[in-house]
Amino acid sequence: MSGNDEVVSEAQIAVHWREEELFYPPTRFVGQANASDPAILERFSEDNFPECFKEYGDLLEWDHYWHTTLDTSNPPFWKWFVGGKLNASYNCVDRHLKRDRNKAAIVWVPELEEDDTVILTYQELYQRVNEMAAMLRDFCGLKAGDRVTLHLPMVPELPITMLACARLGVVHSEVFAGFSGAACGGRIHDSGSRVLITIDGYYRNGELLDHKEKADEALAVAKSEGSEVEQVLVWRRNPGKYASNTPMVAGRDVFVDELLQSYKHQVVAPVSMPAEAPLFLMYTSGSTGKPKGCQHSTGGYLSYVTGTAKYYQDIHPEDTYWCLADIGWITGHSYIVYGPLSLGTTTVMYEGVPTYPDAGRVWRIAERLGVTIFHTAPTTIRMLRKLGPEEPKKYNYHFKHMTTVGEPIEPEVWRWYHDVVGKNEAVVVDTWWQTENGGFLGSTLPGIQPMKPGSCGPGVLGVFPVVLDEEGNEVEAGSGRAGNICIRNPWPGILQTIYGQPDRFVQVYYEKYCRDKNSKDWRDWPYFAGDGAMKAADGYFRILGRVDDVINVAGHRLGTKELESASLTVPEVAEAAAVPVIDEIRGRVVEMYVSLKPGLSPSKEISDKVAAAIEVEIGKIARPKNVWIVPDMPKTRSGKIMRRVIAGISNFTDPGDLTTLANAEVVEGIRHSVQSEKLAKGDVPRELSPQEVAEIQSYGHAD
Ligand code: WT7
Repeated sequence: MSGNDEVVSEAQIAVHWREEELFYPPTRFVGQANASDPAILERFSEDNFPECFKEYGDLLEWDHYWHTTLDTSNPPFWKWFVGGKLNASYNCVDRHLKRDRNKAAIVWVPELEEDDTVILTYQELYQRVNEMAAMLRDFCGLKAGDRVTLHLPMVPELPITMLACARLGVVHSEVFAGFSGAACGGRIHDSGSRVLITIDGYYRNGELLDHKEKADEALAVAKSEGSEVEQVLVWRRNPGKYASNTPMVAGRDVFVDELLQSYKHQVVAPVSMPAEAPLFLMYTSGSTGKPKGCQHSTGGYLSYVTGTAKYYQDIHPEDTYWCLADIGWITGHSYIVYGPLSLGTTTVMYEGVPTYPDAGRVWRIAERLGVTIFHTAPTTIRMLRKLGPEEPKKYNYHFKHMTTVGEPIEPEVWRWYHDVVGKNEAVVVDTWWQTENGGFLGSTLPGIQPMKPGSCGPGVLGVFPVVLDEEGNEVEAGSGRAGNICIRNPWPGILQTIYGQPDRFVQVYYEKYCRDKNSKDWRDWPYFAGDGAMKAADGYFRILGRVDDVINVAGHRLGTKELESASLTVPEVAEAAAVPVIDEIRGRVVEMYVSLKPGLSPSKEISDKVAAAIEVEIGKIARPKNVWIVPDMPKTRSGKIMRRVIAGISNFTDPGDLTTLANAEVVEGIRHSVQSEKLAKGDVPRELSPQEVAEIQSYGHAD
């Protein structure tokens, strides 16, 4: 954030929360919990850092044991478990064969209810991963260190492909299937992939979507940026039946199911990788520039997700664990694939929309499969609550544990989750973390620490958060003031770097609060998370949301700059500004303001073009709720668009002080036309909380 004094910084906003009542974990849960002895808190205390993380490392099988738990010689490029060697695919598959060969590893539920559920035992997963690895090695010529882009939806072929890459030490970079071909193309180029792995189609809302068509666009965009993709591997949703209208390109595109026939029964020895070797890239949005390729390590990352999945998700090998996220996001990588499989449990994957064909679908799946642990996001909880508040009662499932992740959850919604979805018998964890972090950063330890609706809890084991003001002073617990949440120490799951941009990595996460750039002491390098937060007297954190120009739509980060650049691809558009609008279900949605080049008049056609451009450049998930064409943007004297003013208009809040505007006279006209159209459509937000108002009023000050 700049020291722009015309706005109130997050740290200065006094927040008056009602202290929520605590909930205690059910005795039955505590009785079986992986962590129920408070001695664990002592083992992971700051005095025992960093050696405490040996406990997580020891949950894995190593080919060579490490000699140094944490190497801080080149801050902030921390190295964990240095000297150690291991293979992630071996740890998630092979090591379970001896005892659990015939146990379900992955249970895949297709979206159409009449279609059969697919169960892959650990033995079958082993076979399929090996055959795919053999093909990637021998047909594509891929080897350790190469990057491969995956653009796959929620089908079993996604984890199979990830684990096949990991077996070879190949770095996978999965792009969420809902992202557009163009977004995928940018990530192909950035990661330097010469192979794209995709699928012909998949089901969404009862419809078989054509997904392969995005591959051609992705390749065209990658090419325009200077990257040539040599091979496109196409899985088929129904083997043998091609579901896309896009022709296969001879010499470039191949059907994976056909090709795999030549690799039947092949076994590939897992490649022993240094702990520090990258396992995967996951792109995420920031306030400026292009999405950042967060690079995660093999040893540190896998240890961290295994340890946190064990203690915070309370996964036991005999559980049936269901995380409703998409593997295209970090949550799915860590807590559908790597964490659960490393622990040898059964992980459930669902292909489609949670409310398809009706609001009971999720609970029917939970009942039929005997799901014991359930994991989803506030946006889904809000939607299920709205569409079927009584549905959970109709089904005979019993969760012992539930997770919420991705955005702040309103205490009211939390209580419905706990009381109705959890039937008052499940423990709930609200896990705060980010793509960059590999695994949880803030959460209650479910068998030991009580729950508080709306707060994630304290820092997790071995992670020590602090709330800092703009000057770097600690904002005291219980002071009722918010600030920037930072993590004082490194942890094994942290990203290693932004792929190809080490300087940006240092700048984004460390520059703001680094006390001494020459210091080799981790204590001088707090990690800046980019979230506003408040620490209560009991040490629990309440996360308020992003302090940068990132809009969190249904738990997914969209960068203001990406939305604005996409709008500017429309030739008529001269200027564009994205603002968040508070939304009952999705948390926040995007509204775009654009002004046109001279001589052009506003039309629905142009607004539609802007919405379409965003869909093409980013994906459907970013589609703006409204596109407002305005005669001029409210600007400061130095020409900066004052996003907080238009954000205030869109949210019906006070747009704040206008005296610093160079053209304050435009505001009233914009307000009138936008708000009267919204009123006519009945599109008025509910009454906002003081925190939400503060968020809108300080939006966009991170220029
Ligand atoms: C941002 C990270 C990591 C999983 C999915 C999102 C927000 C995440 C919570 C939570 C309040 C949360 C933060 C964070 N966030 N979890 N439990 N309570 N806010 O990953 O796309 O990297 O987004 O999501 O604002 O910075 P992501």
